[in-house]
Amino acid sequence: MLDPRDEIKQKLDIVELIGEYLALKPAGTHGFRAICPFHSEKTPSFHVSSDRQIWHCFGCGEGGDCFSFVMKMEGMNFPEALMHLGQKTGVEIRRLPTTESNVKQRLYEINELAAKYYRKVLLDSKAAESAREYVNNRGITSEQCEKFKLGYSPADWDSLTQFLLKRGYSESEIGTAGLGQKRQSGSGLIDRFRDRLMIPLRDHHGKTVGFTARLLPASPTSSASAASLPKYINSPETPIYHKGSLLFGLDQAKTSIKQNDCAIVVEGNLDVVGSHKAEIENVIASSGTALTEDQLRLIARYTKRLVFCFDQDAAGLTAAKRGVSIARSLGFDVRAIILPQGIKDPDELAQKDPTEWQKLSKTSVPFMQYLILRVIQGKNLSSVDDKRNVSQELIPALVEISDIVEQEHWLKEIASILGIDASVLRSHLPSPKKNDFNPLDTKVVQPKASSKEDRAAMLVIGLLVADPKAYPEFTFDIPFGESTSPLLFELYNQTKKLYHSTNTAPKQTFFSRLENQLKSESREDLVRLLIEISFLAEKSFSQLSQQDVQKQLNSLILLLRHSKEQSRRKNIAMELRQAEHAGDQETVKRLLSELNNL
Ligand code: UTP
Ligand code: MN
Repeated sequence: MLDPRDEIKQKLDIVELIGEYLALKPAGTHGFRAICPFHSEKTPSFHVSSDRQIWHCFGCGEGGDCFSFVMKMEGMNFPEALMHLGQKTGVEIRRLPTTESNVKQRLYEINELAAKYYRKVLLDSKAAESAREYVNNRGITSEQCEKFKLGYSPADWDSLTQFLLKRGYSESEIGTAGLGQKRQSGSGLIDRFRDRLMIPLRDHHGKTVGFTARLLPASPTSSASAASLPKYINSPETPIYHKGSLLFGLDQAKTSIKQNDCAIVVEGNLDVVGSHKAEIENVIASSGTALTEDQLRLIARYTKRLVFCFDQDAAGLTAAKRGVSIARSLGFDVRAIILPQGIKDPDELAQKDPTEWQKLSKTSVPFMQYLILRVIQGKNLSSVDDKRNVSQELIPALVEISDIVEQEHWLKEIASILGIDASVLRSHLPSPKKNDFNPLDTKVVQPKASSKEDRAAMLVIGLLVADPKAYPEFTFDIPFGESTSPLLFELYNQTKKLYHSTNTAPKQTFFSRLENQLKSESREDLVRLLIEISFLAEKSFSQLSQQDVQKQLNSLILLLRHSKEQSRRKNIAMELRQAEHAGDQETVKRLLSELNNL
């Protein structure tokens, strides 16, 4: 009987696996290489060996097997990666699920089931007549409906809840999934979504994690005053749905984004659906808010080129600009698509003229050009007030452009639009910030664990930082000897400081709180060390049982203690000789007793 880990490795080809994420090019006889996804680089130093079934990046020093790749790429821990690859290869993973993963598993199931339910209602139910009509009128084909599993939530108070209860889910599970809410009076739950077009929200693996639900146009017979209801209501945050890290459409868009080396970002989820009709598949939706850093990191796995296509109304632009700045700071190339006059959003164009949307989707302009156009729209450029407004809106975006040649280009452009001298505008730009820390550019230097002690200290800190609560008996009292590197000692003290402070951000992991603390103190050097150390600990411990980890921890501490005592002994011996030489009996006595105590 093979260990499931080995069985997976036998069935899986690492080249195929990594090829799903990166554009691999042949190198050598049995090798491939690509641009490393784990640090920023221009020439490929990420290598995959089909012989040895391993990967390694010579740029950042990262490397490993299929499990470590999936772990890094998908942000999974080892059990999750094992489960994921087990599913992919059809290898059954039997292990007792932890309560946490059990809860999540149930939430995935319940959302999947709800999506099936809504879907069936939309397809078959008499009550979904007007919903079907709405879908039809919007030009959504049955193929698109099936691809995105669109559904309809009945108008009754609790039809989904009743269905789920019959299928064995508890009220508390239905509540946690965000599908039902407590009745205001009386007991029991009512459905959160009623009489709406249901759009499942799927994560990038295609798992349904929640819903966004669109209001249907009020039918003449319905009494609800549609005007007072929000156009969309969404699932609340749950253990499996975090609004800020989900990108609608990514599950369907991944391959196309990689092929085109570019992602088109639209505002509305239905813009994504519509685009698929026009055979544009590298589209994702920001769902009406600014892209977050989490979302951008997710996109960065597939491409570093973004093309925004915003709705024509200016409403979303201010928020979106924030997403654009974060994208820029993370090293994305950012462009934009200009919609034709009178077209409200990509969906409208995809419905009216799919070929036109297809053409337009390939003709982006630099983001700055788009912004200038949008900002001067409807302004009177001979009015001094309008001139001032325009410059106030454009200067911050200009400052963000890090390439000096590009910045100069747009500076001249803006100056000429405003009819002022370029040098005047230039003198109003704040001087560029130096040394901006780029969080994606985590150039991981191979741990320079020169001494045994340093390496042991790194491993211990790495373990604690990953989950300090896992070692409650641990008092944060690592015996650091004189020979440990000062930087490590500093990091350790920072860790200790945070551990003993009150937790003001209970939702964050200890690791990210520490990372934030270090960043707020501008200790980028310690951030890097922290990341390095956490990789080292992850590599060393992620495959061990909790018990074995504990054993390792104990022996590491022992090693540190020994080494500290030994260096103290050496020092005492030296001090003793000095004291004896000087005839300082007092000190001799003190040193001897200290030596005894050691
Ligand atoms: P839009 O108002 O542009 O919606 O909001 P849309 O997707 O184009 O829908 P149609 O075409 O009018 O039917 C863009 C996104 O903002 C979020 C939704 O995710 C929507 O897709 N939004 C909007 C909400 O969450 N709540 C709202 O009330 C409105
Ligand atoms: Mn829209």
